[in-house]
Amino acid sequence: MSQMSKEDALSLPRHRHACHVMLYADTDSKLFGRYQTKHIVLMQMRFDGLLGFPGGLVDLSKETLESGLSRELEEELGVALLVSPEDHVSSSLAPAVPNLITHFYAKKMNESEIKEVEKAAVTVAKDHGLEVLGMVRVPLYFFKRGGGLPAFLSNSFIGSARSQLLSALQSFGLVSQQELAKATQQANQ
Ligand code: APR
Ligand code: MG
Ligand code: MG
Repeated sequence: MSQMSKEDALSLPRHRHACHVMLYADTDSKLFGRYQTKHIVLMQMRFDGLLGFPGGLVDLSKETLESGLSRELEEELGVALLVSPEDHVSSSLAPAVPNLITHFYAKKMNESEIKEVEKAAVTVAKDHGLEVLGMVRVPLYFFKRGGGLPAFLSNSFIGSARSQLLSALQSFGLVSQQELAKATQQANQ
């Protein structure tokens, strides 16, 4: 992933820009009434069968990165979430797509707000069943025989979504560095 500052990215002529966001929350809920799940992290199953984050292409002649991201979230989630410049995490050249820069954001919410997003995504979102096949929560725990996070990481992801997820899980303290190393190692087996 070739990272650059948002300012440098915006100064590049002729590049297209896409913005995506990781929505996350703390939770007390327990799997099977026993295992603390601790955090909710939302991703989506895309039309192309790949996992990714909600968001999409923005048109800088008409909108800012953040307002374009809000427009995409309205289409894909059915809720016009405000994402602010402070929610920006990283900008990088997209792998495999020439002249595309992807900007990654993360926004912390309450569990009840996340549930509202999940509900709206299947009821009012115009992209539901088309560009977006469904929202998914990332299992952040470990289960028998590589289940949980290692199995999730073995799926196929769009662009840099997998590495964006891993670095966000680490930098926001949602999974320890030790557990992340274990998860990526088990995922690659
Ligand atoms: N990291 C890097 N690149 C990404 C990521 C990511 N996490 N997520 C998506 N991309 C790339 C995709 O490959 C795509 O080319 O960014 C581009 C735009 O992202 P989308 O979310 O797919 O764009 P969106 O505007 O929601 O969809 C519009 O994009 O993929 C095309 O033809 C497809 O009609 C669709 C159009
Ligand atoms: Mg879209
Ligand atoms: Mg999209």
